[in-house]
Amino acid sequence: MLNIRYEKTTNPKPIPGPENPLTFGTIFTDHMFVMDYSDDKGWYDPRIVPYAPISLYPSAMVFHYGQEMFEGLKAYKAEDGRTLLFRPDKNIERANNTNARICIPQIPAEDFLQAIKAIVKTDEAWIPTKPGTSLYIRPFIIATDPFLGVRPSHTYQFIIILSPVGAYYPEGLNPVKIWIEDEYVRAVRGGLGEAKAGANYVASLKAQVKAHDAGYSQVLWLDGVERKYIEEVGAMNIFFKINGKVITPMLNGSILPGVTRRSCIELCKEWGYEVEERKISAEELFNAALDGSLEEVWGTGTAAVISPVGHLRQGDTDVEINGGGIGELSQKLYDTITGIQLGKMEGPQGWVVEVE
Ligand code: COI
Repeated sequence: MLNIRYEKTTNPKPIPGPENPLTFGTIFTDHMFVMDYSDDKGWYDPRIVPYAPISLYPSAMVFHYGQEMFEGLKAYKAEDGRTLLFRPDKNIERANNTNARICIPQIPAEDFLQAIKAIVKTDEAWIPTKPGTSLYIRPFIIATDPFLGVRPSHTYQFIIILSPVGAYYPEGLNPVKIWIEDEYVRAVRGGLGEAKAGANYVASLKAQVKAHDAGYSQVLWLDGVERKYIEEVGAMNIFFKINGKVITPMLNGSILPGVTRRSCIELCKEWGYEVEERKISAEELFNAALDGSLEEVWGTGTAAVISPVGHLRQGDTDVEINGGGIGELSQKLYDTITGIQLGKMEGPQGWVVEVE
């Protein structure tokens, strides 16, 4: 159990009202959670302090070798006033898997959850309530040793910041256009692909710029070895409905194990769909699009929730999916997942955790 000390701001900012369109990740609340680590003390001095710049040496290892991890989850305000988190245990489990992969010390799950609840409770008034909005929670850890040389740091800082957000894509729930990337790769098996580390996202930038310039929202990554099999999209996992079956690339070490991905699989199975987690090639996908058996494509992610895909392009070929509109199953998944997150619908046991 953490003994959190509080230093509240004396200069609170105005909280955005319902008229604010809330683009993603641009506004931050009044406070942040901070906790330090050193090899001799372990995790120490958990505190909630005003949201402000942090001070690090220019030699801090995070700047040079990228030893950094992050997570993303959301808090929601239910109609009855409760503040709810969606499956935070899964984010915490993944955070510690990422930590293990990049040599950052573990944070006990109960302390992690306590820290999330404490910061959300502190800035609870910032949770927006308009449909499609939520309070995005961004926990991250950085290596802080002032040292030039490649080894794990001996000191770290764990920080949680909060941001009231709307839809991740400007398209909202309208289908996005996706570019299948066959020049650059995001990750390879044995690399960092399944870890939520900043390094994976910097690896994606070049292709993302290329896709944006061509008028596409996101990049769909192929496997790093054969450049044949579909892995994931820039900020989401990917699902296909082909001939009535739900198909998603199996977790193979280079794909992020998404919490929304897992929730989608569990819901689809409960609704009686056959769900296949397996290798699926871009060729199989395009063939399905051409012969009419590709019924729906959607991405899943905490930020993106469910994001229907209306177009896929590889090389010179662009295919339209489901007439460029939202598929029935994508819509049902969106309605159900957001319904559970907002406490309007009953979800499976343990999916929703109240912040009291
Ligand atoms: C999320 O969905 O929470 C993410 O971290 C994706 C993106 C914002 C990088």
